[in-house]
Amino acid sequence: MKRKILITGASKGIGKAEAEKLSAENNLFLHASKLSSFQKKAENIRYFGADFSKIENVSGFVEELKNTTDSMDVLINNVGIMILENFSNFKDEDISTLITLNLHSHLLLTKKLIPLLLKSDNPHIIFMSSMSAKNQIEGESVYAATKAGIMQFAHVLRNELAGKIRVSTVHSWGVNTWDDPEGSPILVPENIAEVIEFIITRERPFVIESIDLSHELQWKGTSAPWSPQKINS
Ligand SMILES: NC(=O)c1ccc[n+]([C@@H]2O[C@H](COP(=O)([O-])OP(=O)(O)OC[C@H]3O[C@@H](n4cnc5c(N)ncnc54)[C@H](OP(=O)(O)O)[C@@H]3O)[C@@H](O)[C@H]2O)c1
Repeated sequence: MKRKILITGASKGIGKAEAEKLSAENNLFLHASKLSSFQKKAENIRYFGADFSKIENVSGFVEELKNTTDSMDVLINNVGIMILENFSNFKDEDISTLITLNLHSHLLLTKKLIPLLLKSDNPHIIFMSSMSAKNQIEGESVYAATKAGIMQFAHVLRNELAGKIRVSTVHSWGVNTWDDPEGSPILVPENIAEVIEFIITRERPFVIESIDLSHELQWKGTSAPWSPQKINS
């Protein structure tokens, strides 16, 4: 049976790959920062544009979504950006943007979607965290804080919603969403998409609580090739 799936940040990268993977079997609701971010639009998919770095836009988005559906089967909280900088040099506004977009908007959207998800007989919430949540990669302090926040939030939510809505978190090392010119050994968006499809198609009561993903040859240290220079070096 076709399920209604909302994917945030679905115009490119991992979210786009998820949409491509899930489109044949499901009814999709796709979000990006603006409608024009979707270059090609399919007739059977609903598209939405809302800049979630401004938290007040989340409520407006949900109202718009509710004009198209009063229920949802799967919420994939994927939207997010990375800003890399040594913390001493971090711009104040970048700290704010990362926390609003990567953390606050996920919590608020999830809260507002729970009533719609509870109308489904098989609801599922997915959070796209990162292996940065569990490591110490220089330059990623604020990003890691948002992803660790998501990880822990999801753990508690899973308990609160047990028996009603399944909650899963995906932690990935690097995924090539920027056409890495050096050809680093990192995953591709389709790897994440196939894992998401696997997670949401498991039969209840089985739940994949969280899953860690990496390329077998991927660098896994305290500073990445893309980390900024050390302070004073
Ligand atoms: N790539 C990695 O190595 C990696 C690894 C682990 C986890 N992740 C996580 O996976 C998720 C997707 O990452 P990605 O690499 O696929 O990102 P991406 O290719 O940069 O795509 C980001 C998506 O988020 C949307 N977005 C960005 N800023 C937004 C805003 N202010 N308001 C609303 N939507 C906005 C973009 O829409 P527009 O096109 O409109 O900008 C786009 O659809 C993120 O949460 C990221 O932290 C990524």
